[in-house]
Amino acid sequence: MRPYSQTQIILHWVVTLLVAAQFVLNDAIGEAWNAFRKGAEMGFDPLVAAHVFGGIAILALMTWRLVIRVRQGAVEPVAGTSPRMAQIMHLGHIAFYGALVLASLSGMATWFGEVEAAGDVHELLTTVILILVGGHVAAALYHQFWLKDGLIRRMSLRE
Ligand code: HEM
Ligand code: HEM
Repeated sequence: MRPYSQTQIILHWVVTLLVAAQFVLNDAIGEAWNAFRKGAEMGFDPLVAAHVFGGIAILALMTWRLVIRVRQGAVEPVAGTSPRMAQIMHLGHIAFYGALVLASLSGMATWFGEVEAAGDVHELLTTVILILVGGHVAAALYHQFWLKDGLIRRMSLRE
C-alpha cells in the first residue's frame, strides 16, 4: 500500500497551522470590514494583510494537495476499516477540500469584491470548518488511543 508522501504530510501540517492562524487572526479584518461598510477610510493593517495572505496561501496549498490526490489517488484507509467507515472518511476529506477552497474564495469575494452576502457565506463556512476539524481530530484520537492502529503515524513527518 502506498503511504502518504512526504510532500503530502508537510502540506497537511502547514495547512493545519495556517488554518489555526486564520481563526486567531480575524478580529482585525472583521473590524476593518465593518468599518468599510460604514464608509470609513481604509489604511494598511498588517493583521488584515496576514488574514488575506494566509487565506490565499491556504487556497494555493489546497489546490496543490488536490492535484496530488487526484493524480495519485487517495491513500487506502487503515487495515480493518469497514467500507461504510471508509466512505464517511472519504466524504469528510472531500468536505475539507471543498470548505477550505470555498472559504478562501468567499473571503476574497467579500474583501476584494465587496459582496456583503459573501461575508455571511464566509462566516458560515468557518463554522463548517470548525465542525470538520472537531470530527477529524476526534476520529484521529479514537484511532490512536482506542483502536491503537497507529493512524497518526501515517501523517507523521519522516526523517
Ligand atoms: C480558508 C481560509 C480562511 C479561513 C479559515 C478564514 C477564517 C475566518 C474567520 C474564522 C473569520 C471570522 C468569522 C466570524 O466573525 O464569525 C473570518 C472573517 C473574515 N475573513 Fe476570512 N478566512 C479565510 C480566508 C479569507 C480570505 C482569503 C479573505 C480575503 C481575501 C478573507 C476575508 C475575511 C473577511 C473580510 C472577514 C470578515 C467577514 C465579516 O465579518 O463578515 N478570509 N475569516
Ligand atoms: C485544519 C486542520 C486540518 C485539516 C484541514 C486536515 C485535513 C486532512 C485531510 C484532507 C486528510 C486526508 C489526506 C489528504 O487528502 O491529504 C487528512 C488526513 C489526516 N489527518 Fe488531518 N487535517 C487537519 C488537522 C489534523 C490534526 C490536528 C490531526 C491530528 C490530531 C490530523 C490527523 C490526520 C491524520 C492522522 C490523517 C491520515 C488519515 C489516514 O491515514 O487516512 N489532522 N487531514
